[in-house]
Amino acid sequence: MSSATDDLRSMDQTRRRLAALYLPIAQDLEASEVIYREELKSRIPFVQQLVDHAARFQGKRLRPTLLLLSAQACGGVRPIHHQLAAVVEMIHTASLVHDDILDDAMVRRHAATINVEWGNEPAVLLGDYLFTHAFHLAAATGSTVACQWIARATNRVWEGEMTQTHHRGNLDLDEATYFDIIRGKTAELTAVSAALGAYFADSDPLVVEALEAYGTNLGIAFQIVDDLLDILGDERNTGKSLGTDLDKTKLTLPMIRFLATAPVEDADNLRRLILDKSCSSNRRKLLRDLIGTTDIFENCWQCAFDYANQARDNLAILEDSQAKAILVAVAEGAVRRAF
Ligand code: IPE
Ligand code: IPE
Ligand code: MG
Ligand code: MG
Repeated sequence: MSSATDDLRSMDQTRRRLAALYLPIAQDLEASEVIYREELKSRIPFVQQLVDHAARFQGKRLRPTLLLLSAQACGGVRPIHHQLAAVVEMIHTASLVHDDILDDAMVRRHAATINVEWGNEPAVLLGDYLFTHAFHLAAATGSTVACQWIARATNRVWEGEMTQTHHRGNLDLDEATYFDIIRGKTAELTAVSAALGAYFADSDPLVVEALEAYGTNLGIAFQIVDDLLDILGDERNTGKSLGTDLDKTKLTLPMIRFLATAPVEDADNLRRLILDKSCSSNRRKLLRDLIGTTDIFENCWQCAFDYANQARDNLAILEDSQAKAILVAVAEGAVRRAF
């Protein structure tokens, strides 16, 4: 079987698993996607072409799903949830478009990245277009709270990305700084998504806080696994370029733990490998082999599971419901990457 066929089959499997998981909110997701497409329509053919490319393959829609499920688990989905679900997915997509420039990534959502297909400049501009539309749409809800929360979370996402860029090549990066980075760049948006779902279902502030904590813990778990997959994963399954953390000398948890615990000679080997400027898939294999001599990959997975378990525990405040059960399944799935 050709690799293109493998790719399509893997995409199809992911789509089917997600569709089954998201079934109870399928109509709400569809409503938010209609708003998403409407918002981004442009009269300029080139702009529409870029937007269409970015929308050609759907991602996992994790953030809108969290928002809508939280709403449902807290009392019910309202029209404002559909708008906000479109907003958080737009901000996420904008972040990915810019992130792919930073990472020189070639593939995203099983397609060529905007930067590869059209170059960095259109990619910067498309990312900007997505961000400004996201805030335009947030403003259209008429809710200052929604605008402020989303803006604050987005600011923190970019603080996280800036901190990460600042620490590129820093071989002394510690775990505390790593967690600070991923809490910003990834967990802020999952947290605000879950919190917005609860808030606009008129939940008690304690429930909103619990949902925000759920989103934070889930986001941290999700990024730890993403970083593991960057070393261990298969591009046909993830549908995006892998190995970019190593190529861009961004230290992630397995590398940090190896440098902190390995014998001097092995740690020196890793330092040399990280700083080696040649971009080759062989370097990724060397990294896998070196860290694979220890139990560090296993304990990083365990760390992600611990965060996912905390996320599940944060939901204890909610009454049992189908939506709550799916939120639990999403936390587990985020680590198992069952979708
Ligand atoms: C990718 O997020 C960026 C990270 C925070 C790891 P997703 O894995 O949710 O990307 P899509 O939306 O499914 O493409
Ligand atoms: C970036 O993290 C997450 C964002 C907030 C954009 P990564 O660089 O690890 O995300 P991927 O692996 O490219 O999806
Ligand atoms: Mg990236
Ligand atoms: Mg990654």
